[in-house]
Amino acid sequence: MTMTYPDIAATEAAMRHLLVSDEPAFAPLYGMMQYHLGWLHEDFTPRSTLAGGKRLRPRICLLCCAAAGGDAGRAISAAAAIELLHNFTLIHDDIQDGSSHRHHQGTVWHIWGMPQAITVGDGMYAIAHEALLTLTETGVPAAAVVALAREFNATVLRICEGQYQDIGFENRWDITGEDYLQMIGGKTAALFAFSTRAGALIGGADARRAGIYADLGTAIGLGFQLRDDLLGIWGAASVTGKPEADDIRRRKKSLPVILLHEGLNADDRAALEALYARDEIAPDGVTTVIAQLDRASVRAACEALVARFHADAVALLDATGATGTARDTLAALIEAMAVREA
Ligand code: IPE
Ligand code: IPE
Ligand code: MG
Ligand code: MG
Repeated sequence: MTMTYPDIAATEAAMRHLLVSDEPAFAPLYGMMQYHLGWLHEDFTPRSTLAGGKRLRPRICLLCCAAAGGDAGRAISAAAAIELLHNFTLIHDDIQDGSSHRHHQGTVWHIWGMPQAITVGDGMYAIAHEALLTLTETGVPAAAVVALAREFNATVLRICEGQYQDIGFENRWDITGEDYLQMIGGKTAALFAFSTRAGALIGGADARRAGIYADLGTAIGLGFQLRDDLLGIWGAASVTGKPEADDIRRRKKSLPVILLHEGLNADDRAALEALYARDEIAPDGVTTVIAQLDRASVRAACEALVARFHADAVALLDATGATGTARDTLAALIEAMAVREA
């Protein structure tokens, strides 16, 4: 999925500007951050091609700013803050999930160990806040920046709530589809909602329209995570850049697994629960679970829900009243996200 938008280069530059130190003794700390963002190799030499993420949230933030009638250039610090916060959560998430690879390369903890990966994430978290506060330098009034900073912190808490549920659900079977939606609403959709709403507010949206933009971000985020959970079972490692079926290995109670468990007879259900009774599911167990998922045909139901969330998102985009290039680019991005493979 390639999607270019002029200001994403400026967002990249804003992030680069913040992730450096004059003190050589600290260079590896920022080097690990830059490695995670895809700018450096493991030995801290520059990469010729970016190995980092898709930069979806900053693109969406900038597009919402423009769609709301604003100058996307004013939202660059917010876009940078959002992407840095997102990547901080990924560095810690890879520790929490025991994931060895992301973006087709080793994760920070896998290369440099968990203690330093925690530090790298904490540093990026602080820099994300710093980025947000530099909005004052691009003409956003101080009171508006303080209000956004509070929403930013509330978003971090929603992410923590979602991560708390995601990890807690690994050991439980009494999880419903509603619990799952609440969990992904926190760990993933909250940041998409902040991205759309902050972009719109900086672009001049009033409170009512900013609320519609937030709902748009929520719909995008719910669809995004459900699609991610399908890829976390059936995605190809060569395309996703993450280990195959990593969510099964880690006993994640994503919607396909919840639906499978609900529909099984008592014997098959007991066999499934026995497989999940260890800290991690071994490769042959993963194969067994995927075969059960395929037999239960839960994938089609989840794909239909992904399509519905994205259709909701396009309807909400139209409800914002946005027109023009930014609206069309955003609509195309939403359509592409609905069928993404990576
Ligand atoms: C990964 O998000 C984490 C989830 C919420 C599923 P992305 O797939 O957007 O990650 P990057 O930014 O491309 O690395
Ligand atoms: C990522 O969730 C959400 C956050 C980091 C807050 P996942 O654990 O489902 O995402 P991946 O599959 O590792 O990217
Ligand atoms: Mg993970
Ligand atoms: Mg996780």
